[in-house]
Amino acid sequence: MAPGGLFGTAAAAVVVSLAVHVLLNCPIQPVPSPPPPTAGYAPNNLLQGLEKLGEEQLSGPEDVYVDAAAGGTLYTATRDGWLQRMQPNGTWERWRFVGGSGLLSIAPSGDGSMLVCDAYKGLLRVEEGRVTILASTVEGSPIRFAEAVIEASDGTVYFSDGSTRFGIDRWFLDYMEDSSTGRLLKYEPSTGKVSVVLDNLAFANGVALSQDDTFVVVCESWRYRCSKLWLKGDKAGKAETFIDNLPGSPDNIHLAPDGSFWIALLQLRSPWIDLVTRWTFTKRVVSSFPALLDMLKETGKGAMVAQVSENGKIVRVLGDSEGKVSNFITSVTEYDGNLFFGSISSNFIGKMSLAKVPRVQDVVS
Ligand SMILES: *[C@@H]1O[C@H](CO)[C@@H](O)[C@H](O)[C@H]1NC(C)=O
Repeated sequence: MAPGGLFGTAAAAVVVSLAVHVLLNCPIQPVPSPPPPTAGYAPNNLLQGLEKLGEEQLSGPEDVYVDAAAGGTLYTATRDGWLQRMQPNGTWERWRFVGGSGLLSIAPSGDGSMLVCDAYKGLLRVEEGRVTILASTVEGSPIRFAEAVIEASDGTVYFSDGSTRFGIDRWFLDYMEDSSTGRLLKYEPSTGKVSVVLDNLAFANGVALSQDDTFVVVCESWRYRCSKLWLKGDKAGKAETFIDNLPGSPDNIHLAPDGSFWIALLQLRSPWIDLVTRWTFTKRVVSSFPALLDMLKETGKGAMVAQVSENGKIVRVLGDSEGKVSNFITSVTEYDGNLFFGSISSNFIGKMSLAKVPRVQDVVS
């Protein structure tokens, strides 16, 4: 056989074995990804100036809640299964033990307990000495990835289930597959009933209520947008876009004191990620090799958060474009003129004075 023929045979063997590997091992059934967002904001690295709270005591504090009535006691849930809090005088305390490694968003309940999303177990109510699972299934389907929660003043609890396909350990596969199986759910404490409010969401993530509970917002990470569902008024029951074309994948969203919202924006884009997610074929191939998928995930660097007005316009943007201080900010909360940043990949909560953050001047579109 001529050397060229030998090369051809070897190349064919590689292609065939690759195809067989992908056929046997591909964990996703990908659909085409949407085009990346086009909005550009003059980049800044304001987030690099944040102050670190609780450094090294906190493992992956994904979300932050500040209790204004208690003078600013700050709460977070960490990877070691604890709800931890910082008193206004700066003292940290391991407050309530829940267990597990999947604690994400937290929100206060009117009865004094804390509502917590456990990515593995569902929606929890945490009281002194007691943890209750409020919801682990909805209409017969498991809640695979409880993400974020908020309680309305009438006691209704809204929370999100990121995906029915992949849990927290395989979230990047959900990004690759992009099959929009996320849901906004509702829990009614008087009856214990859990129901689906909105479905087919491209990773249902942050959930927030507007002032006076006029509408509820849910963010769709893989669509760079958040939707709102009207709860009161003429449009009650109708859903519409709250904001789209966000400069990142929205994670948690929190109401600010002035009625605007703060949204953490994951920076999951890179030239490599953009290339791979361009075709379902390449998504299939890369997803079939866990090491390759991890390498791809690591190419997305940086952190960003944005303030969005009540009518869905970006007001402020803060970034850490190189990921120098923080790579994966997952929540931002405003209290008393300061911003507090949670991050599932950091060992601290960030703090920054809002006075240092200018409003958006130059929107490049
Ligand atoms: C901080 O405040 C807490 C709660 O009021 C108190 O128990 C603690 O002793 C205080 N710590 C310091 C160092 O003042």
